[in-house]
Amino acid sequence: MTRKILVTSALPYANGSIHLGHLVEYIQTDIWVRFQKMRGHECFYCCADDTHGTPIMLRAEKEGVTPEQLIDRVWHEHKRDFDGFHVDFDNYYSTNTPETRHYADTIYTRLKDAGLIEVRAIEQFYDPEKQMFLPDRFIKGECPKCHAKDQYGDNCEACGATYQPTELIDPYSAVSGAKPVRKTSDHYFFKLSDPRCADFLKDWIVPPQVQAEAGNKLGEWLSGGLSDWDISRDAPYFGFEIPGAPGKYYYVWLDAPIGYMGSFRNLCDRKGLNFDDYWAPDSQAEVYHFIGKDILYFHALFWPAELHHAGFRTPSGVFCHGFLTVNGSKMSKSRGTFITAESYLKHLNPE
Ligand code: MSP
Ligand code: ZN
Repeated sequence: MTRKILVTSALPYANGSIHLGHLVEYIQTDIWVRFQKMRGHECFYCCADDTHGTPIMLRAEKEGVTPEQLIDRVWHEHKRDFDGFHVDFDNYYSTNTPETRHYADTIYTRLKDAGLIEVRAIEQFYDPEKQMFLPDRFIKGECPKCHAKDQYGDNCEACGATYQPTELIDPYSAVSGAKPVRKTSDHYFFKLSDPRCADFLKDWIVPPQVQAEAGNKLGEWLSGGLSDWDISRDAPYFGFEIPGAPGKYYYVWLDAPIGYMGSFRNLCDRKGLNFDDYWAPDSQAEVYHFIGKDILYFHALFWPAELHHAGFRTPSGVFCHGFLTVNGSKMSKSRGTFITAESYLKHLNPE
């Protein structure tokens, strides 16, 4: 029997270069997809750049270009690197596209109709100079535990403590240096605390949807109780504005996995494939996501809960891998411990 299989790798952020850590994922996915194709199955490998959010907006500003210009340039760099390593996508797209917006709006609207979206006012740090709310990563200050200076808003790199940004001593905005003020605004939440979500997920987070080890970790999170998920950000924000909510944008992690659908939809339109064959609730096709363990929470809790309650099929499987490490820690951009795909290709054979 010929199987219909849609496969994805996580969408790399458009604010950094592809490095060897990323390639752990894209190469294993590529091998798996090639294997399924050789067996004669109908198999498509879709991916995209993950383009929205504050870091991309601020980086574009710093470089004196629009976010659209930045993500366009990075898309070409990413595509060049993947081509260099022979990662053979059927479609490499972007989340900043009409297709992804369409499915984001569809999912949001259906969740709202299902009574799973709630609006609540929350208080956050606000940069009065730059006139924007500050994500935790853009607030710095003195660690409340060990008093190390210039620590990030959510954890201390000197002593390892975790805390709320409001606990920092002498906090300042990493964007402008200004002293942040507390400010209230309305946020949109996906009500993961609704019993319908936990009821559905407790049966879902088992093999074959997830590996047993991942299931254990997910079970731990689930038994701790799921909190509602804040899916909106206030302007200025680079992303999609929420329908019926002027000045509010989908948080980047809301539309990122929907980018899998957007990329596949774009392929369907080009190839004359039927999107619903793969995404309708009664679909006989298979959908697999390859991801790293740092993003398991999003793919195996939020994502299936969203899909299920918005009338789409849920993934057949989420394949979760560990990290390529340098001296025991994840190879990463933020740690500055990476070898880029580009520099590897200058010196060595990708085969
Ligand atoms: N943009 C999000 C994913 C959104 S998916 C809807 C993201 N991007 S990322 O660029 O940080 O990471 C992309 C993928 O590469 C993730 O699955 C991540 O786990 C993986 N890796 C990044 N560094 C890695 C290693 N050092 N080792 C193995 N995989 C690594 O997260
Ligand atoms: Zn500390």
